[in-house]
Amino acid sequence: MKNILITGGAGFIGSHVVRLFINKYPDYKIVNLDKLTYAGNLANLKDVENRPNYVFVKADICDYDKMLEVFEQYDIDGVIHLAAESHVDRSIKDPFTFAKTNVMGTLSLLQAAKVTWDGHWDNKRFYHISTDEVYGALELTKPEGNPPYGDKFFTEDTKYQPHSPYSAAKASSDHFVRAFHDTYGLPTVVTNCSNNYGPYQFPEKLIPLFINNIRHDKPLPVYGKGENVRDWLFVEDHARAIDIIFHKGKIAETYNIGGFNEWKNIDLVKVIIKTVDKILGNPEGYSEKLITYVTDRAGHDLRYAIDSTKLKNELGWEPSLQFEEGIEKTVRWYLDNQEWMDNITSGEYEKYYESMYGNR
Ligand code: NAD
Ligand code: DAU
Repeated sequence: MKNILITGGAGFIGSHVVRLFINKYPDYKIVNLDKLTYAGNLANLKDVENRPNYVFVKADICDYDKMLEVFEQYDIDGVIHLAAESHVDRSIKDPFTFAKTNVMGTLSLLQAAKVTWDGHWDNKRFYHISTDEVYGALELTKPEGNPPYGDKFFTEDTKYQPHSPYSAAKASSDHFVRAFHDTYGLPTVVTNCSNNYGPYQFPEKLIPLFINNIRHDKPLPVYGKGENVRDWLFVEDHARAIDIIFHKGKIAETYNIGGFNEWKNIDLVKVIIKTVDKILGNPEGYSEKLITYVTDRAGHDLRYAIDSTKLKNELGWEPSLQFEEGIEKTVRWYLDNQEWMDNITSGEYEKYYESMYGNR
């Protein structure tokens, strides 16, 4: 495979994947296709935008004719599909956009791949990036002490049981991808990953939002009691897994990707506070006063925890970063890149955020 279509490459994870592929594979042509929704930001790729092996195409994955044109024009033989609406809170307010992009957009890409490749599957690959949220929620059977906080983990065989409109739409897209393999023979791979953190994440998500709020002495809105558990993975480790699976993963397989790194939200928030305060030179615990418990997210999944043993055993991938190191790196990046943050949080986005959440 030489001409790789990466969708959603101007978003958080996509930009890390695009950067990795541009740097690591100078012989490939990397076509980054992105609609540039509120979450897409070409500033995420400033350092690589002039590379000879890189092209940016502004397009909507729901535009089937355009997808056909892109497949033909760039002679695409591999797809890494990340484009999606990705924020659970937005999906609760506006489920239609999620069904449209995540389901119909994925279907339009699948059909374009099928029609263009037309049964010539050799050296072709359609890799769909999904989430652990499709599996639903795990119980918190061991809420005290050290993680893991329960006996069960999500494996590749866990039944799909999505709860939010976001995860329902992602689950539906996963089913379409597998259906295109089973029905037409399209060479597909699916991965389901846990929560990512790191540079360039849109600041409506917990970690960048809270780092920025601490910096501006603003409240930190913790949903419910802060007892929900997420399994956090450094985004560059996810990008590395995507590279390995894209090249070596078996057709029609599913791989779970996760860090065996469970955190209760409130404990994570305290680590973020400690790290930001240390770097800003504040006394220890100074910003804990900003913690504000707010109404819980509707249908808030209690615990996610991924078992990524299959990926480790079959393809040798493991997370490279310890969480303490990753979170410090992440906090420093956001504090050092305040201009990147300000460009997003000023103007239109600020108005949206206030209309959605009030003046938090
Ligand atoms: P993001 O919201 O930061 O980026 C999404 C990108 O997709 C943006 O650049 C946006 O402009 C683009 N996009 C949206 N709709 C589009 C459309 N109709 N046509 C073309 N482009 C469109 O998302 P992210 O956090 O980087 O997530 C990327 C993918 O990884 C998603 O599929 C998500 O479900 C999955 N995922 C995310 C996480 C996570 O923790 N962030 C974990 C597991 C899986
Ligand atoms: O598990 C993978 C998923 O992780 C991805 O598929 C999604 O695209 C990604 O957005 C993420 O979903 P979450 O809902 O887990 O991430 P978020 O950062 O929105 O929230 C993390 C946890 O923090 C969650 O339990 C809700 C809570 N939270 C979040 C926000 C934004 C708060 O308590 N307060 C907040 O303001």
